Amino acid sequence: MSKTKSKKIKAFAPATVANVACGFDVLGFAIHGLGDYVTASFSDEPGLRITSINGDEGRLPKEAEKNTAGLAVLSLLEKVDEAKKTGIELQIEKKMPLGSGLGSSAASSAAAVVAVNELLGNPFTTNELLPFAVQGELAASGTAHADNVAAALIGGFILVKTHNPPDVISLNTPEKLHCTVIHPGIEIQTKNSRKILRKQVSLEKAVTQWGNLGSLVAGLYTNDYDLIGRSLHDEIIEPVRAVLIPGFSEMQQAALDHGALGCSISGSGPSLFALSTSQEQAEEIGKAMGVVLQSIGLEYDLHISKINTAGASIV
Ligand code: HSE
Repeated sequence: MSKTKSKKIKAFAPATVANVACGFDVLGFAIHGLGDYVTASFSDEPGLRITSINGDEGRLPKEAEKNTAGLAVLSLLEKVDEAKKTGIELQIEKKMPLGSGLGSSAASSAAAVVAVNELLGNPFTTNELLPFAVQGELAASGTAHADNVAAALIGGFILVKTHNPPDVISLNTPEKLHCTVIHPGIEIQTKNSRKILRKQVSLEKAVTQWGNLGSLVAGLYTNDYDLIGRSLHDEIIEPVRAVLIPGFSEMQQAALDHGALGCSISGSGPSLFALSTSQEQAEEIGKAMGVVLQSIGLEYDLHISKINTAGASIV
């Protein structure tokens, strides 16, 4: 471990779309253009400190034990003997909205573990960082789901086979896929949108859902855009959460009417994502969804992106 005091490592981790309609808690992908930066450096004072957080309007805790990125790094440091007496400082720059359904806490956790791992001389591979980053999600939402954080760390489409310990599979990303994300100007906390979910699922719905998930994975591998579109349905989670998002059905219909392969809630909402096969179509879809929110007087942000296959990186 080279402990040059002036050494500063800055990492970026992208925003992510979790669930991807039929893959609640087990499927996610990363996008471009939104994400968080974390800078890690050594300090003379042992322990972990978050010295600044920008872009959160003062809402996130700076105590490492209460902050998602802090918790992720603390769990990493526990596994590195040499690091136990080391002082580390983190500076967090949030460049994406909180409570948006775009994996804000996951982006901070992923960027933080990547930055600290590099600072310590890379004791872990990217996949080995996942269990640490997941600790942040546990704090943020009450469950250690890895769908956002795995996609933020690794990039591309990620399937979470099991959560504890995380066992994840990088899926194929068809070249033409474009993602439209519309983020209505309301906030939904993942904890709350998980509380309203039913704990029991009917066998009939489960069969439909795993049929769709299997065929979505097949569609990704065979670059079969029609099959991807036919698989992007959520029988279980979307109907329950849609009531939290004003204009949800109208936006979904507008996206499908304008050529989307499929459209559903991004993560726990309120953002929606739609997949399509060109930049032009992705923009048209975004415009059409925006008209719905304008008609009900809700502000929104639009993001158009190809699938980000790079994941988190040092900048
Ligand atoms: N799979 C998670 C959920 C993602 O839908 O609750 C939210 O972070």
